[in-house]
Parts: sequence; structure tokens; C-alpha cells
Amino acid sequence: MKVGFLQTSPLFGKKDENVDNAMLQITRLDADLVVLPELFNTGYQFTSKEETLALAETVPDGQTTRALINLAKEKHLHLVAGLAERDNGRCYNSAVLVGPHGFIGCYRKLHLFYHEKQWFEPGNVGLNVFDIGQARVGIMICFDWFFPEVARYLAVKGADIICHPANLVLPYCPQAMVTRCIENGVFAITANRIGTEKRSEEALTFIGASQIIGTKGEIFYRASSDLDEAIIAEINPKFARDKQITPMNHLLNDRRLKFTIPVEERE
Ligand code: ACM
Repeated sequence: MKVGFLQTSPLFGKKDENVDNAMLQITRLDADLVVLPELFNTGYQFTSKEETLALAETVPDGQTTRALINLAKEKHLHLVAGLAERDNGRCYNSAVLVGPHGFIGCYRKLHLFYHEKQWFEPGNVGLNVFDIGQARVGIMICFDWFFPEVARYLAVKGADIICHPANLVLPYCPQAMVTRCIENGVFAITANRIGTEKRSEEALTFIGASQIIGTKGEIFYRASSDLDEAIIAEINPKFARDKQITPMNHLLNDRRLKFTIPVEERE
């Protein structure tokens, strides 16, 4: 299965330009599954709820999701892309999954990072795994990586590949995702952005380093910190179905869930 990512540098608010640029790059790829960054169409640094609402779109009938669906049909591939979603006057930091037969699903980011808490509601549609034929894919968005239960939950639900749109600013995630893959026996594709936005007092620089990681933590490819890149690697998603660590250790069945401590019981 040919899987990969686009690492882009969106211009804030220039949706047509950002979407057209991403579409053009995908058109040139030979791929089965491509992951795009978080908020790939709008840019990241919103400054008010009004601005967020104005740029956010409904799913699946908004213009960005429709453009993604058309391309997925034309190229016969699956796409996971981060965008600002509007629903009943509320905004979510979401990612859509589309394929050759159209819209498949949408994930709303659970763990909002920093000022995102001012513009978005936390996700309310849970974490889902989607069977796209060649693999089962789970979706999480950027800062969700900091909460290892997200990747674990997706793995327990049967994900072979974690698709991870991101707008990373802290440096830790690329290495942490290596561990997420080892401890869950899954592949992960992190699609990050590059560039700097300074739409308030604080400039945010995005770290790039998008990557494709294997079930044993192999770094099949890690991108630069400062270039737009479109990378595809060949993987065998079935490797993620083998959760045996040694002949006597299984990474899901060996868990001792009875002894994990719910947060309310902390001393
Ligand atoms: C992030 O969650 N965009 C850091």
C-alpha cells in the first residue's frame, strides 16, 4: 500500500490558494492514502471566534471537503485532511476522511492546544477506526499525541495506520510518535506544516518533520523543517495485525487493566 503525506505552508485565510496548491501536489502522486496537515486550508492562528466561524466549513458539503472528494474519486485514493469545521454555530478542529466512493468520516480533535481552546469546541464524536479496504485507519490530530491513550484506543479498536494531521510547534512529537508506534504495533503518518504565523503578539513557528513510521518504530521517512514536501512510501498494513512482542508477550493481551488507576483515585 502506498501511503504518505503532504507537508505544506498554508497562508492564513487564503483557502482557495491553499486547497489548490495541495490538490495540485496530490495530482502528481501515485498513492493509495495521503494525509494532509491540520487546518491545511485555513492556516492556524485564528484571532477571534467570528474569524474562525467565517473560515470554517460544514462537513461534508463545504467547499474543501467537496474538493477533496472530487480528487479522491478522480485519483482513486483516500485522503485525510485537517480543516476547521462549522456545525450549529460551533467550530471544531476536525479531519475528514474521503475516498473513491466519497465522504467516509470526520474526527473532531479531542485535545485542544493552547489558544485553540478559545476558538474551537473539544471533539464530541469520539475516536473511530475506518476500514478502507487495504487497511483500517484511525485519525488523531496534532496535540492528541501527548495523550498516549488516544493512540492506544485506536490500536485497540483495530487501527493499522494512525493518520495524524498536525500543526506542531513543540519539538517532541516526532520522537514520541516512534514510541506510540512501537507500543501499539501500528503505522503512523504525521503530516505537519512548516512556516511561521504571527497574527497576534506571539509568533508560532511550525516544525515540519512530517513522517511515516513503521510498527517497530522504523522511521521510513522524516521530512525537513523548512520545505514543502510530498512523500509516499510503500508499507504492508498487515504487519500491524501482529501484536506479538515475543512468543510469550502480546502487547494488547498482556495489559493489566485491573491495576491501572483512574484519575479520581490518584493520591
Ligand atoms: C497542535 O495541537 N496544533 C500543537
